[in-house]
Amino acid sequence: MARVMNSLMSSVFFIPLLLTSIDADINVADFGAKADGKTDASEAFLAAWAAACSSTKPTTIYLPAKKYFLGPVVFRGPCNNSRITLQMDAILVAPDYQEMASSENWIMFDVVDGLSVIGGYLDGRGSSFWKCKGVSNNCSAGSTSLAIYSSKNIVVQNLTSINSKLGHILVHTCRDVVLQGVRIRAPDQSPHTDGIHVQNSINVSILNAGIKTGDDCISIGQGTTNLWIERVACGPGHGISIGSLAKDLEEEGVENVVVQSVVFTGTQNGVRIKSWGRPSNGYVKGVVFKKVLMKNVNNPIVIDQNYCPRNENCPYQDSGVEVNGVSYIDIEGTSATQVALNFDCSPTSPCKEISLQDINLTYQNKPAQSSCQNAFGVARGQIVPPSCLLK
Ligand SMILES: *[C@@H]1O[C@H](CO)[C@@H](O)[C@H](O)[C@H]1NC(C)=O
Ligand SMILES: *[C@@H]1O[C@H](CO)[C@@H](O)[C@H](O)[C@H]1NC(C)=O
Ligand SMILES: *[C@@H]1O[C@H](CO)[C@@H](O)[C@H](O)[C@H]1NC(C)=O
Ligand SMILES: *[C@@H]1O[C@H](CO)[C@@H](O)[C@H](O)[C@H]1NC(C)=O
Ligand SMILES: *[C@@H]1O[C@H](CO)[C@@H](O)[C@H](O)[C@H]1NC(C)=O
Repeated sequence: MARVMNSLMSSVFFIPLLLTSIDADINVADFGAKADGKTDASEAFLAAWAAACSSTKPTTIYLPAKKYFLGPVVFRGPCNNSRITLQMDAILVAPDYQEMASSENWIMFDVVDGLSVIGGYLDGRGSSFWKCKGVSNNCSAGSTSLAIYSSKNIVVQNLTSINSKLGHILVHTCRDVVLQGVRIRAPDQSPHTDGIHVQNSINVSILNAGIKTGDDCISIGQGTTNLWIERVACGPGHGISIGSLAKDLEEEGVENVVVQSVVFTGTQNGVRIKSWGRPSNGYVKGVVFKKVLMKNVNNPIVIDQNYCPRNENCPYQDSGVEVNGVSYIDIEGTSATQVALNFDCSPTSPCKEISLQDINLTYQNKPAQSSCQNAFGVARGQIVPPSCLLK
């Protein structure tokens, strides 16, 4: 009876209070998250997420400026809430690779609609994993630091990610995603530490990013449509890459990609499109690379349709991926090798409608060189090195 009375009392007197407290911030500390950087705070984080997710009011989950050990964790939707903000002043520390079990992702958002992630510092603690990979095949699969799957209306702002075991940030099967002011850092020799990978997603913007890592700065996988990349500084790393494509015979294309106002410093590649030299029904259509500065870049402009590392599963085959409509506008700077512009296209699916405008790439203070195979298109304005496109 007392219990009934109690719950009746709380319904009558405390529900308004409860509602206002849901309306205001949730603090992970209130859910028992220990900020010693050692005790696993996953349970508390997930409880805070569940509270925000079940509410229908805009909810901010606050992570104070402390160090939390976490994960792997999955923040799962669908939620009743389409306005969740994760305000992170915290440093989040990943488990070592042996403790990750088979999780492919350290921090994952799945089926979420309407989320802002503000701030935060993710330490992926990749170095022991990279070392293990250097000497052994028995190191667990590794993990991506932040993965966003099957979600929409997502904003990630001013997040820093360092030393991911594999890729830093993954956007997969999403739409309407903005990554703004993201900072990424890993050593230039760290293997497979892509900065940002986008795949099977529509309407993604990557703005004002600084990415120094061991693999691609940004890589763009199959099924990416309407991707806008602007004001990004890359290097060290492997540059911005569309591909590898033609991984599979049946593959979605890449369409409408703009890369603008980007600086590459000491990267292996600048702007690259690459596909395995294998059959595939994938394609690349409608790409613009504009206002790009190359500083000592090994391969500033590349289309490689004969990608075939270790000569496995591809020699003597031609890429089926059609590359059609790629513009290079206002691209200048220095190449670290003689050939600054290399279009190595497939004889069976040649590159079409390539357009060059105002290019100036030098090698050791002299004009660099260009090389074309099966590449068709037009050149306008000053083009250094001279265009080798076929009309
Ligand atoms: C959403 O609200 C409904 C009705 O209140 C509830 O049953 C459900 O558990 C909530 N969903 C989540 C994800 O919290
Ligand atoms: C691989 O790692 C597992 C788990 O750490 C261990 O049990 C196994 O003995 C290792 N295998 C080899 C061949 O080193
Ligand atoms: C992100 O950082 C920029 C530059 O420091 C700052 O102007 C902006 O207000 C920050 N955004 C948020 C949402 O904190
Ligand atoms: C992509 O963004 C545009 C412009 O904001 C919008 O009109 C369109 O509906 C979006 N497409 C999808 C599939 O969300
Ligand atoms: C190309 O760049 C070099 C080095 O910056 C400069 O000296 C040269 O004038 C430029 N050429 C054109 C055509 O703009």
